[in-house]
Amino acid sequence: MARPRSVYVCSECGAQSPQWLGRCPGCGKFGTLTEEIAETAPEPSKKTAKRDRSANVRRPVPLSEVKEERFARVSSGIAELDTVLGGGIVPGSLVLVGGDPGIGKSTLLTEVSAHLSQKQKVLYVSAEESCSQVKMRCTRLGLSSSGLLLLNETCLEDIEDAIEEEKFVVIDSIQAVYTSELSSAAGSVAQVRECAGKLQRLAKSRGITFFIVGHVTKEGALAGPKVLEHIMDTVLYFEGEREENHKILRAYKNRFGSVQEVGVFEMTGEGIYGVSDYSGIFLSESRGEAAGSCVTPSETGNRCMMVEIQTLLSKTAYGLPRRMPLGIDYNKMVLLIAVLEKRCGMPFYNQDVYLNAMGGIRLNEPAVDLAVCAALASGYKNEPVDKDTAVFGEVGLTGEVRGVTFAEKRVNECVKMGFKSVVFPAKNFKSVKKFEDKIRLVPVQYVSQMIKALFPVSKTE
Ligand SMILES: Nc1ncnc2c1ncn2[C@@H]1O[C@H](COP(=O)(O)OP(=O)(O)O)[C@@H](O)[C@H]1O
Ligand SMILES: [Mg+2]
Repeated sequence: MARPRSVYVCSECGAQSPQWLGRCPGCGKFGTLTEEIAETAPEPSKKTAKRDRSANVRRPVPLSEVKEERFARVSSGIAELDTVLGGGIVPGSLVLVGGDPGIGKSTLLTEVSAHLSQKQKVLYVSAEESCSQVKMRCTRLGLSSSGLLLLNETCLEDIEDAIEEEKFVVIDSIQAVYTSELSSAAGSVAQVRECAGKLQRLAKSRGITFFIVGHVTKEGALAGPKVLEHIMDTVLYFEGEREENHKILRAYKNRFGSVQEVGVFEMTGEGIYGVSDYSGIFLSESRGEAAGSCVTPSETGNRCMMVEIQTLLSKTAYGLPRRMPLGIDYNKMVLLIAVLEKRCGMPFYNQDVYLNAMGGIRLNEPAVDLAVCAALASGYKNEPVDKDTAVFGEVGLTGEVRGVTFAEKRVNECVKMGFKSVVFPAKNFKSVKKFEDKIRLVPVQYVSQMIKALFPVSKTE
């Protein structure tokens, strides 16, 4: 059979070209041509086949007559992963696991495969590592199973041929496999999209569950990013610094469950473990001793976790002051610094500001604003925040503290973790009043009130 020809299609205007060009001949944009498989001209026999098919074209069905599918979910053997998936693995689904190199994607999927292979045959396609490397990892993790089949292969067609009755297949990673129908290199957008599409058709037609590893580009996007997301049923993403032991697995998209869930994992030499008791892992030992840090109950994926925010201020040596947040959006930090400057009279124009959310966690919700302000104010005043005080609330540009969601849950977590007082938005007072006898409640309306409450007699004033 002749190899299918490929064409280069502009992603902007759809113009086609038989060879790759730096500039699209249609719209004149640069670097927009990507390779695609060319549709071969339909032969006469195919035409009749098409017409035949249109004879039994699908008719619309009333909703009441549609059969409901019940997903018999399968446990992955790791409770945290099951939670993130929405209660277990749905057979026949495509799950993408993304994350930085070395974060533990292969480790996690090796463990899952080994667990599942106790009951059924599982194929682990390792396109990046040799079979003996995978074996070495299994030995290190203390896993052994005769039902686990390993395959070191990068050509997708050969992988398809190798899948026999396995209902669970791991592809590690999608960037390393290629389809021979395209001439572009493995890992290119065209290859990734085509391979993922083929795997999707295989998954749906034969009811195979695919776990696919996807790498992340330097910018932090899943390589061939949006290209992959719409093909997948579930997109999971490993977060966390490589050096930190704790990683967070978050669902970005899930057709079979909530995207609110996160799983907390701990990486050790013997493997990756789900952490069920995550309290206190995002707090430092010495909190309350040095100025510039503050603890906040943060709601991350249906769970409330106490997270410490640390800041460091140092005098700007020359030029513009630096702003360097880790775990918090850059613009948010700049905005909160501006609020402190304008509404609380704390100048930061000659201070470099570094900020870090402990444990490599990412805090995206607005409820951490007030704690960021508290940490910055503590650094500015060079006075530590009391170690048993937690702070949460959203901060507006006028310096007011706005109410937040899940206030009750947050205060409850503070009580559980043994905190003695909590500073929170006055708007949330009603919902948390019942904790009055367990913890000292400090409702505030403005950022300046929060600063007064935390630093009653300031040495600098
Ligand atoms: N021999 C080893 N002993 C202890 N830890 C190891 C060993 N080899 C790898 N690791 C740990 O496992 C991690 C690699 O995990 P892996 O699952 O291969 O990552 P990924 O597939 O996401 O690139 C590394 O960050 C390292 O900390
Ligand atoms: Mg790997």
